[in-house]
Amino acid sequence: MTEVPCDLAVLGLGVMGRNLALNFADHGHRVVASDPFAAVVASARAALTPAVEVVETPEATIPRLGRPRRLLIMVKAGDPIDALLDRLAPLLAPGDVVIDGGNSHPSDTERRVTKLAAVGAHFVGLGISGGGSGARHGPALMAGGAPGAIAAVRPMLEAIAARAADGAPCFGVFGPGGAGHFVKTAHNGIEYALMQVFAEIGLLLGASGDTPAAAAAVVDGWRAGPAASFLLDATVTALAAVDADTGRPLIEVIRDRAGHKGTGRWTVDAADELGVAVPAIAAAFGARVLSGRRVPDAGPAITALAPLPASLAADLGTALPAAMLSAHLQGLALIREAAERHGWATDTAEVVRTWRAGCIIRAAMLDPLAAALAAEPDPNRLLATPFGRAILADAEAPLRRVVAAAALAGVPVPAFSAVLAHLDGLRATNVGASIIQATRDLFGAHGFERTDRPGDFHHPWPTES
Ligand code: 6PG
Repeated sequence: MTEVPCDLAVLGLGVMGRNLALNFADHGHRVVASDPFAAVVASARAALTPAVEVVETPEATIPRLGRPRRLLIMVKAGDPIDALLDRLAPLLAPGDVVIDGGNSHPSDTERRVTKLAAVGAHFVGLGISGGGSGARHGPALMAGGAPGAIAAVRPMLEAIAARAADGAPCFGVFGPGGAGHFVKTAHNGIEYALMQVFAEIGLLLGASGDTPAAAAAVVDGWRAGPAASFLLDATVTALAAVDADTGRPLIEVIRDRAGHKGTGRWTVDAADELGVAVPAIAAAFGARVLSGRRVPDAGPAITALAPLPASLAADLGTALPAAMLSAHLQGLALIREAAERHGWATDTAEVVRTWRAGCIIRAAMLDPLAAALAAEPDPNRLLATPFGRAILADAEAPLRRVVAAAALAGVPVPAFSAVLAHLDGLRATNVGASIIQATRDLFGAHGFERTDRPGDFHHPWPTES
């Protein structure tokens, strides 16, 4: 008897790969799976059988697949993906589609598209957000790939994706090659900025005398408001958690030093390369780095720092939506610039629609943000729309008080400070750039534009005579 061919191979059976395989199986897809490591195959077999067929090696999945073959790679980003592609490429046929669902660097994805094109196969870079639970029950999916490749995998990916409140699948296609992984990278940059904002909220509430449990209760009170989001909920859970060994608040026993795996830095690197300002994302990445390089014995020079005001908690809650909006706009401005530079037809409203459910940065404000971007696709100009104005009208004064109070109290708030500088910088009528232009012209004859007539001008500086 001939075996029924499978719809998809999942290669890489860590938590993400296993959960995605089960998610595909739940949606009626016949899945064959394997892993480069025999020990992982053995443990996955027990966990996945009978919903998913598990075979000994990645190569052994190939004869089990119908045409075109569809393979989803879920191994660690970097060299392990290239090693697996080297094993698979000779076995692939024209029209086959290999999807990389890891957090891969977009330039690696571009390179792999070319590599597989040599055997006529397609390579799709798929950003997947939502962690293990998202993978199992509905992640947000950000794809980049050739139209023919996307057509071959779209129905399956839409089936497993999270559903937004309006029922739309959180699956978006943002261009060819590395476009999906670029959007995922920017998503993670926004994630860094938002996480830093929430960390600063916890830090400030703690510095004003709240226990972690009391701080959790304050943040919990914002759940029904405009800042409602997965990361707000996660912050409440983290602040309220208790360490089983000591009975102490968990955040007091976790070493105060943040880790990172690369995507936040890639976002900052990409912004530098493309000439886009992402100050809160850069501040958040910098704060993670600085958290491990501190010199507390240097102490503050001012010993009588101002106490934090009693109004702080309320101000934090009202300032938060503006901080969240600023973080999103920075990531979106980066995506828009990359799309223009690479000629991708990436729609910022569609990007935000894809983030409405399943992903780590899902938030109530993404529905109205997507609607606002549909009318005004330039993230920077969004501040001039009724949506942007309404958020800032409520949040601006509290945001200024938060940053001022933190500065006077000596509590580092790099993300809140960068958000305020970003929002002020974008909306200011004068930012001092004319002084920079004058100085550049003074020492380097770089020239400047004038406000009263077009052209490139140079001032006769006294130093030149
Ligand atoms: C997601 C997450 C996920 C992961 C990142 C962050 O969207 O599901 O972004 O991809 O949490 O890798 O990692 P670091 O904080 O370690 O850089």
